[in-house]
Amino acid sequence: MGKLKKSLFIFYCLMLLLAGLPAGQSLLAQEVRLDVPFVPTPYEVIEDMLRFADLKKGDILYDLGCGDGRIVIEAARRAGIRAVGIDIDPERIRESRENARIAGVENLVEFRQANIFEADFSEATVVTMYLLPDVNIRLRPTILKLRPGTRIVSHQFDMDEWQADRMTYVSVDLYPHTVFLWIVPANISGIWDWSLNLNQKKTDCRLEVNQAYQFFTGKLYLGEQFIDIPETRVEGPKVEFSVILPGTAETELVFSGQADGEQITGTATLVQGKKNARQTWKAVRRPGTAGSIER
Ligand SMILES: C[S@@+](CC[C@H](N)C(=O)[O-])C[C@H]1O[C@@H](n2cnc3c(N)ncnc32)[C@H](O)[C@@H]1O
Repeated sequence: MGKLKKSLFIFYCLMLLLAGLPAGQSLLAQEVRLDVPFVPTPYEVIEDMLRFADLKKGDILYDLGCGDGRIVIEAARRAGIRAVGIDIDPERIRESRENARIAGVENLVEFRQANIFEADFSEATVVTMYLLPDVNIRLRPTILKLRPGTRIVSHQFDMDEWQADRMTYVSVDLYPHTVFLWIVPANISGIWDWSLNLNQKKTDCRLEVNQAYQFFTGKLYLGEQFIDIPETRVEGPKVEFSVILPGTAETELVFSGQADGEQITGTATLVQGKKNARQTWKAVRRPGTAGSIER
């Protein structure tokens, strides 16, 4: 086992061991069971997490298992955005509120004592977490239902089959830390119908999509002909793919749109050498054809 893997393994075992213990003395009466022990993220790592989060005006950040509130407070302090921390441990919530008061960001932040598996964080545009691999996986179905485009930033632990869109490493006091970023993809699985004007003829189009997380393959039917779509990435709500029209060597048909529930709207552009002919693309999903994008 490499040095890096070994220290990650030891750290992971320690986290698991601690997770099995009840939270601090003040909780003895309440016996709150933690799924993850309190281990704060070093500020050097928060730097990279917030860089990945790319906070903008109007963002709402949720830290799932907020500990002493440091990520929430840093996000509010640096970007002036609203940020919410959720922690099951009342001691952590008290500490977070006190830290927010000292940092002077009480007006921007909120700390809720709740279980992350029961809390509603659907308004989040950014979710941060420093949990454990199995906890990330248990949260994954809920996270995948967040608004497409929501940024998910995790310290140290990944989401298994849901490949990260970006990753970086940072070493703090010789200890390696990993930061992962995922962009919640729109679920475009299923069958989509629309019509286009091709060669001066109204043509019925159908796209059959097979999606796993942010990647899909598909079959595009243009009238009676079909074309295979190779693996393509869905970036948040953005859907883009192109095909070469059958029977032509170089006429490209480029689709570019935004998915919003049961509709994708955007443009379909026929590109022939230097000539571009653009038309509206409005696809509607056949009822009952959407499926899960988790594997
Ligand atoms: C590893 S710490 C991370 C703290 C903070 N997010 C950070 O990065 O500095 C995990 C936190 O999750 C909280 N926690 C554990 N299980 C939880 C649950 N089921 N619901 C809410 N919070 C939980 C713990 O109390 C702890 O504060």
